Amino acid sequence: MIYLGWIVRLMAAKTKSNKQKEEEAPDTEVITMEEQLEPEATIEDLPGVGPATAEKLREAGFDELLALAVMSPGDLAEQAELGEAVAGKIIQAAKKMANIGGFVSGSALLERRREVQKLSSMVQSIDDLLAGGFETQSLVEVYGEFGSGKTQIGHQLAVNCTMPVDQGGFDGDVFYIDTEDTFRPERITQMARGHGLDPEAVLERIHVARAYNSAHQMLLAEEIKRMSRGINVKMIIVDSLTSHFRAEFVGRGMLANRQQKLNRHLKDLKQLADVNNALVLVTNQVMSKPDAMWGDPTKPIGGHVLAHASTFRLYLRKAKGGRRIARLVDSPNLPDGECVYQVCEEGLRD
Ligand code: GTP
Ligand code: MG
Repeated sequence: MIYLGWIVRLMAAKTKSNKQKEEEAPDTEVITMEEQLEPEATIEDLPGVGPATAEKLREAGFDELLALAVMSPGDLAEQAELGEAVAGKIIQAAKKMANIGGFVSGSALLERRREVQKLSSMVQSIDDLLAGGFETQSLVEVYGEFGSGKTQIGHQLAVNCTMPVDQGGFDGDVFYIDTEDTFRPERITQMARGHGLDPEAVLERIHVARAYNSAHQMLLAEEIKRMSRGINVKMIIVDSLTSHFRAEFVGRGMLANRQQKLNRHLKDLKQLADVNNALVLVTNQVMSKPDAMWGDPTKPIGGHVLAHASTFRLYLRKAKGGRRIARLVDSPNLPDGECVYQVCEEGLRD
């Protein structure tokens, strides 16, 4: 139901007529210091934004100044059905009012970092590796060979995300973009029972959409903004991030195009993480690296674009006796390391 609902709403949103397109005379009002310091500025406070434009912006999912400030004029014009010049002015004004147009002090950053929440995997060894859990405002890439357990981690964290904050969850909803048709509500049910949760209630908070190709996948990520009104979005999962891109853009000649699209997609995802103080989890396959003389002859696909976009990278491997090994490969503030866990019927366990 949720699945269909999302797709239907998406189609309705996209086929909306362009008739509403209405240029509004841009207002060249100067933003005063008081306005900049106004604590609760909303999009209606933007100079040149009348009720009609505000309505369009909200309809396109732009509820906050920050969400506007990080857009490009072309994208905003397209998504909110505005003229590009108007969009440019709105973005400039939002940048000033959201006060993100320049450098901030280390202490201000620390303040923002204080809002970061950690989602527990409910597996002690994994939480230890991540110094407490999976952080909001970050993009976590989980990569490994087929059957290494990437999708299992996605399912488990989706369940955990709905749990109360005092139990290590986010008490939030999950948007799950499924590109390989491997999302299984039955698996969610098992894992929910494993934590003593009501499976129905958990499934109700996981919004799933199947992405049929890379363009559809990108569109779904863009639409989360619009679809999530009134929903406490705390996690976005893309399983798998790269499979469609890999299948569709084949050969050297397509590489630049692929990486450019992937980059754009990752930016949209990172923006969702920042604006919602949410966690983004993406999965990725590995390709064999036959020229590797030492070490593991596999590496994640996606190249530098993905390597730079991920805040944390976890490399999963199968080990003897049904055990799994997760290796933290890349982290801005934690040491690299490994942990061991198991995939059981009730979910991930120590
Ligand atoms: P690809 O998407 O094919 O690249 O693989 P993946 O990394 O997503 O693997 P996935 O997460 O689907 O892991 C599949 C593995 O999880 C299976 O081979 C099983 O070992 C394990 N698994 C899945 N469900 C269960 C379950 O109900 N019980 C147990 N014990 N193990 C399970
Ligand atoms: Mg999978």
